[in-house]
Amino acid sequence: MIPENAGPAAVIVLAAGAGTRMKSRTPKILHEIGGRSMVGHALLAARSINPRQLAIVVRHERDLVAGHVSELDPAAVIVDQDDVPGTGRAVEVALQALDAEQELTGTVVVTYGDVPLLSGQLLAELVATHEREANAVTVLTAVLDDATGYGRILRGDDGTVTGIREHKDSSEAERLIREVNSGIYAFDAAVLRDALGHVTTDNSQGEKYLTDVVGLARRAGGRVAAVVTADRWQVEGANDRVQLAALGAELNRRTVEAWMRAGVTVVDPATTWIDSSVILDEDVRLLPNTQLHGATTVARDAVVGPDTTLTDVTIGEGAKVTRTHGSNAAIGAGAAVGPFTYLRPGTVLGAAGKIGAFYETKNVTIGRGSKLSHLGYAGDAEIGEDTNIGCGNITANYDGEKKHRTVIGSGVRTGSNTVFVAPVTVGDGAYTGAGAVVRKDVPAGALALTVAAQRNTEGWVAANRPGTRSAELAKAASTDSSSTPASTEEGK
Ligand code: UD1
Ligand code: MG
Repeated sequence: MIPENAGPAAVIVLAAGAGTRMKSRTPKILHEIGGRSMVGHALLAARSINPRQLAIVVRHERDLVAGHVSELDPAAVIVDQDDVPGTGRAVEVALQALDAEQELTGTVVVTYGDVPLLSGQLLAELVATHEREANAVTVLTAVLDDATGYGRILRGDDGTVTGIREHKDSSEAERLIREVNSGIYAFDAAVLRDALGHVTTDNSQGEKYLTDVVGLARRAGGRVAAVVTADRWQVEGANDRVQLAALGAELNRRTVEAWMRAGVTVVDPATTWIDSSVILDEDVRLLPNTQLHGATTVARDAVVGPDTTLTDVTIGEGAKVTRTHGSNAAIGAGAAVGPFTYLRPGTVLGAAGKIGAFYETKNVTIGRGSKLSHLGYAGDAEIGEDTNIGCGNITANYDGEKKHRTVIGSGVRTGSNTVFVAPVTVGDGAYTGAGAVVRKDVPAGALALTVAAQRNTEGWVAANRPGTRSAELAKAASTDSSSTPASTEEGK
């Protein structure tokens, strides 16, 4: 028994075309918008209507496309198209493959791998209309201002769909028709199988046209209808990079709008780019020129931007991330990052922690409340809680061949310009002095100093830089002051 919410018998995604106008070594349908390949978008929409089977037809760059598809959707049946060209042939080979185990019955949906904005919702609507009206074929159409290149929808006097005529095969009068074939259809499996057996290559392109099924089905007495969508973006394909960018911008506009409706403040939608895979909470604020990619998630009340690009970054509640470039990092609740901060993979910043201006981090775990406020590098390190790393500190983790770890405890205070020469461990509550080069472990509670004696050479400027402004000012200063020590040495 078929469950009530079961989708169609199958969706067939056509993806065998060459896509020459992209002028790319990457197959067309692997080009991305919204952080996902075009075929990835197509597969998600197809899956969302819960088909019993999903097939994708490939030929051009077969191995690259098939590899990508099996990664995204391991259950998808990959079907190779043979040398017979045309959308009709593509569907025919797919149907043969799907029929192999058991002949399909019910609804078969056909979509394209290069129509990335098609939503599962519109597909579901197409299937629902098709099944409610008990149609043989239901075609998704749109009315365009410029229909050049598209197959035109032919309708009889009573308005019913009678056929589809390809642009190249159409008469002057037919070219005035502005209702176009999207290439997306719902078919009755038996009608489709039967009609495809009668489709020929007798047309201007010498191809087996899937569109011929429409006329054939009607002549066989089947009901043919159209679902007309007012949303032309959902049926638009990308043939070149200009169209790819336009579709990418529209997808982003939709994504940003959906997040705003879900309670996210986006100060400047035009400069905010959000991948389809990103997840945001209510009351997140995105400031201008922010790009969120991949598996990035942002929790409630966090503020991101301006001028921030994050890929696969997790941001905790109420955190602030300003002018930051980051990937594969986790930022704790209430933490602060930026401005001008570079978070490299493996950065984990604890709650209420801080990574401040001009910091680069990589592979570092920073405990709750610890602060790395200004100018430095922390890599291959572990820092405890409530530790304050002074200005300009660096973990010298690389000996030219291998990386080594630095472990710094909790409640540590490090002086400006401390260098941790890894591998090295600093105990809880320890201090380091300014400019310390820490090569040996520092016990808990100790102060580590590496102090070279300072030597002042009296009168050096007068002797070596005579006539300069410095010399002039030095002279004035020495006549002003009553007693100046001849030479001082510190830290003896
Ligand atoms: C096709 C339709 C046309 C419709 C248009 C919408 C036919 C005959 N024409 O035209 O009515 O208005 O789409 O965009 O169907 N493909 C294969 N194997 C093939 C040929 C194509 O898998 O042998 C795939 C392509 O990868 C692509 C899709 O089918 O995803 C459409 O192919 P394309 O050549 O772009 O179709 P058009 O000729 O533009
Ligand atoms: Mg074609």
